[in-house]
Amino acid sequence: KKVVLAYSGGLDTSVILKYLQETYKCEIVTFTADLGQGEELEPARKKAELLGVKPENIYIDDLRDEFVRDFVFPMFRANTLYEGVYLLGTSIARPLIAKRQIEIAKAVGADAVAHGATGKGNDQVRFELGYYALKPDIKVIAPWREWTLNSRTALLEFAEKHQIPIAKDKRGEAPYSTDANLLHISYEGKALENPWEEPDEDMYTRTVAPEKAPDTPTYVEIEFEGGDPVAVDGQKLGPAALLTRLNELAGANGIGRLDLVENRYVGMKSRGVYETPGGTLLSVAHRAIESLTLDRGAMHLKDEIMPRYAELIYNGFWFSPEREALQALIDNTQKRVTGVVRLKLYKGSVRVVGRQSPNSLYRLDYVTFEADSVYNQKDAEGFIKLNALRLRLGAMAGKQ
Ligand code: ARG
Ligand code: SIN
Repeated sequence: KKVVLAYSGGLDTSVILKYLQETYKCEIVTFTADLGQGEELEPARKKAELLGVKPENIYIDDLRDEFVRDFVFPMFRANTLYEGVYLLGTSIARPLIAKRQIEIAKAVGADAVAHGATGKGNDQVRFELGYYALKPDIKVIAPWREWTLNSRTALLEFAEKHQIPIAKDKRGEAPYSTDANLLHISYEGKALENPWEEPDEDMYTRTVAPEKAPDTPTYVEIEFEGGDPVAVDGQKLGPAALLTRLNELAGANGIGRLDLVENRYVGMKSRGVYETPGGTLLSVAHRAIESLTLDRGAMHLKDEIMPRYAELIYNGFWFSPEREALQALIDNTQKRVTGVVRLKLYKGSVRVVGRQSPNSLYRLDYVTFEADSVYNQKDAEGFIKLNALRLRLGAMAGKQ
């Protein structure tokens, strides 16, 4: 029996590692992904070794480019927002972790996988739907749903008893529950559990307070090709490098903070705070380049299906036929979505101030307020009259 554990190197997953060894007496393989969370990963290797994992059973993978290229960018092609505002920074990373974890399970001949998500949240659903979609016969172990370490004190006691190193800052008060990657960082729990309470300024790690941002605006130009960003300020960048650059620019200008109460898939509401600096720029810029290059019908159709697509990703259905079908539709609209958008960043806000494209559908000769020779204003009279016909008939019927 062998189990592949999604291992962060933190306290919770270290406790899980020990718990699996004790409870299942099985060989453990750890998998730690670099998704751009901004933490050193070598300490995770040391810690796994210290807890008795064989060196050949420790997997540490840099997935940053794959994450941005194959998950973040496809999602941004749809201008995706969950419940109108959430850019899905955690939701979109889970399918990639599940995918790689299953690849490793297949490679090492493991029959089970384990994760550190609780039984109350969305993440358990996202991980496990991914596992089952990619390996239908996999056995899933979710310690949070089966053990009795249900308080922080119990967890710390277990760690101490098994000589699991506890970082100094983890000894005292419980920290926020956070999840981080190149796209965002999330905060939940602690004082945030009261939706009326404003977060402490010192909670934020990726953005300066808008009040403290520079007094002069920053301009940035994002270039798109076929719906995906390829360059910033004229410099071509790979997917991860590009998002890193946008994170710096937006973070320095206090852009990308979000505070919301959202509906979890399992049924309860929860309060979350997010920082998605670069993603916020991307989302605004992508819409702007589409505004020049997309046909109205295609654009409005995308807007109609977007909430459905967002819900699929939030609920963990990345590897589903319906997500793939919607993706095919979205991708089909993106071929001409090429050009440059100029943004103005200032004290927490981002505004579009320019856009241009070789595929622009914008026609000055048609739209101009000056005299034109291509559009006959008289045509509009019949257009409006026929559109008004049913309104007039309805109004007349109402009079009788
Ligand atoms: N509520 C957000 C979501 O469901 C963030 C979840 C954060 N996960 C975590 N393990 N801290 O996408
Ligand atoms: C968790 O329960 O592990 C974090 C919150 C969530 O997944 O929604």
